[in-house]
Amino acid sequence: MTDPGTPLDALPDDFLWGAATAAYQIEGAAGADGRAPSIWDTFAHTPGRVAGGDTGDTACDHYHRWPEDVALMGRIGLGAYRFSIAWPRVVPLADDRVNRAGLDFYDRLVDGLLAAGIRPFPTLYHWDLPQAQQDRGGWPARDTAERFAEYTAAVAARLGDRVTDWATLNEPLCSAWIGHLDGAMAPGLTDLTAAVHASYHLHLAHGLAVQVLRENVRDARIGIVNNLSPIEPATGSPADLAAAVRADGHVNRWWLDPIHGRGYPEDMQRVYGVELPERAGDLDLIAAPLDWLGLNYYFRQIVADDPAGPAPYIRQLPGPNPEHTAMPWEVHAPGLEQLLLRLTEEYDAERIYVTENGSAYADSVAADGSVHDPERTAFLADHLAACARAVGRGAPLAGYFAWSLLDNFEWAYGYAKRFGLVHVDYPTQRRTIKSSGHHYARLIAAHRGR
Ligand code: IFM
Repeated sequence: MTDPGTPLDALPDDFLWGAATAAYQIEGAAGADGRAPSIWDTFAHTPGRVAGGDTGDTACDHYHRWPEDVALMGRIGLGAYRFSIAWPRVVPLADDRVNRAGLDFYDRLVDGLLAAGIRPFPTLYHWDLPQAQQDRGGWPARDTAERFAEYTAAVAARLGDRVTDWATLNEPLCSAWIGHLDGAMAPGLTDLTAAVHASYHLHLAHGLAVQVLRENVRDARIGIVNNLSPIEPATGSPADLAAAVRADGHVNRWWLDPIHGRGYPEDMQRVYGVELPERAGDLDLIAAPLDWLGLNYYFRQIVADDPAGPAPYIRQLPGPNPEHTAMPWEVHAPGLEQLLLRLTEEYDAERIYVTENGSAYADSVAADGSVHDPERTAFLADHLAACARAVGRGAPLAGYFAWSLLDNFEWAYGYAKRFGLVHVDYPTQRRTIKSSGHHYARLIAAHRGR
């Protein structure tokens, strides 16, 4: 484990220090001011889908408590805040009408952030598709990409005078593969054709949104956020080596190649055996030039061949490192350095942000009211050291967003998994900065003051 005092000298002077959240995970206020249900409201309210029957109905009540949360960001010294905008607040229903009251919330939040000197980094889609749009076919249907462009236009018209940094999608891999193939996330399908079509329309939505933002936001700086993993074969057998190539295609190349103008990997098209719903001009839209790439990093994947399993016929094995988080994901900081260098060398990235990186542990409030989380502090230090090493080796890394600012609704795991730099006591909504949050604040201050 790296000493928490690891020097971060290689990070550039204007390095952006941030934290990230997502709408459904923190906002609560599920029925407020015209918001309609998203696929996650439906999923969470379906018995057996989320641990403990938890839902995002109240979550961290950030919708009402955002001034307190912006003040917490100020105490930590954040220079940027990555949050997501809830499509079902902005265009709640199938009538396609824009809900002004929903946009008012983000208007207030952006003004509050700017007043606190914190750069807003909104993400337009972090998994909360309006249920009304799911009922019209969801991501497997092209219509959803076109509606996303209309929603983007509404958001840009309202916030584009003050917000320049935009992410289109968060982790489209999860929306497509986990939501439509594994079934462990909303909308909970297990259908390969639907999953492949969803992946394609998510990319198309991204491309259309880039076009809308370029046309409507002066000096927009636009990126997409992908969750990637280094892949290692479980053994040196030809079958496991081939499985590792497929896993890399499924997890990394499928999500990076099309947005870099390389089309969809042909080996993976053969593995899936699903025809893409492609129309002329789509691939150019999908490959619209970007200003930055967002990298979410949590773990590497050790994979073995699984010929009897579903496509892409791979089985994930536990990582060999004994350190695991509460998820339980293997702790492996060198994987972050590896991915940053891959984006730099293989995809010629000109600007990268680590848009998420963090760890869940079973935190509790001590008798004196403090929350001591040495594992998360070490995780943070080790991963920032990996960032600094990557920068030293040429990666154009411009910022780091810790996941997450607050403990929150961790999707199918409910509230049982705590990722925050700030502890949330859900019954009282009391916030407490954990020792990792204080450590992050010291690192930020030291870097700024050097
Ligand atoms: O909580 C999620 C987030 O919404 C997307 N990236 C991974 C995080 C931890 O699982």
